Amino acid sequence: MKAHKKAGSRAARSGGRLSMAARADRHRLYEQSVQNAEAEIDFVDATFRELRGRRARYLREDFCGTANVCCEWVRRRRDNQAYGVDLDESVLAWGREHHLANLKPSARGRVKLLQQDVLTAKTRTVDILLAMNFSYWIFRERALMRRYFATVRGNLAKDGLFFLDCYGGYDAFKTLKEKRKVGRFTYCWEQASYNPLNGDMTCHIHFAFADGSKLTRAFSYKWRLWTMPEIREMLIEAGFANVIVYTQGWDERTGEPNGEFTPARSRSPTPAGFATSRR
Ligand SMILES: C[S@@+](CC[C@H](N)C(=O)[O-])C[C@H]1O[C@@H](n2cnc3c(N)ncnc32)[C@H](O)[C@@H]1O
Repeated sequence: MKAHKKAGSRAARSGGRLSMAARADRHRLYEQSVQNAEAEIDFVDATFRELRGRRARYLREDFCGTANVCCEWVRRRRDNQAYGVDLDESVLAWGREHHLANLKPSARGRVKLLQQDVLTAKTRTVDILLAMNFSYWIFRERALMRRYFATVRGNLAKDGLFFLDCYGGYDAFKTLKEKRKVGRFTYCWEQASYNPLNGDMTCHIHFAFADGSKLTRAFSYKWRLWTMPEIREMLIEAGFANVIVYTQGWDERTGEPNGEFTPARSRSPTPAGFATSRR
């Protein structure tokens, strides 16, 4: 979640007043645009229970960013514990100030944040390990991704589950900009470049405001665009016994995804798709 150098370049003062962009907090905007910690925890908690016949207690969030999801986990039950791992101290500090600080002290003590690399960070073995919002696409070579998946496996309890998400559909391979209104601002997802020869892609998140100000390239990502079959193969090669793909349903009425995830073996091609899978 790197801030691009130009972030905020059009966010300056106009007529002595700070623009909306200058007053905005990019981490807050990110969370409002692309995260739903409650729904994510609902899904992983219920799925773990359904598959393993017990309640999960220990959760690790790799690439945790602001640790929003870790905080949601410890709020759910008094004995839940969460570990968040992220390389970037500044985003962890934001999470401590804005999320951990709002937890009851008893819950706060059950979240541990580690400023470390997910490939080497040591935590206790956990029931649920999350790699969400495609963050693991930072690993652009097969051998490195396999190593990451093997590391995840080593960090799981015997009956632990790994949840990761994936996006696709034929629009994923295009350069494009997609805009969406979120409350009082506009979120823009830009697929700025894609190299079909090696799968490398560059994406940016921009935000625009009613007063015309913008946060351009508030976040930028250099990823490999992996496909579902490749991810499935690498998980199996890394030792996972079973991979289940959940695809999101579609609401014909609104023309939007409906937030319902069900296990699937096949589906017809669509411009865009979103899936989450687990061990
Ligand atoms: C897209 S953001 C966070 C996404 C968040 N998990 C979510 O669900 O929205 C990706 C995060 O991964 C972190 N990151 C990138 N490479 C990492 C690595 N090797 N180890 C740990 N964190 C890493 C970045 O610092 C950034 O905060």
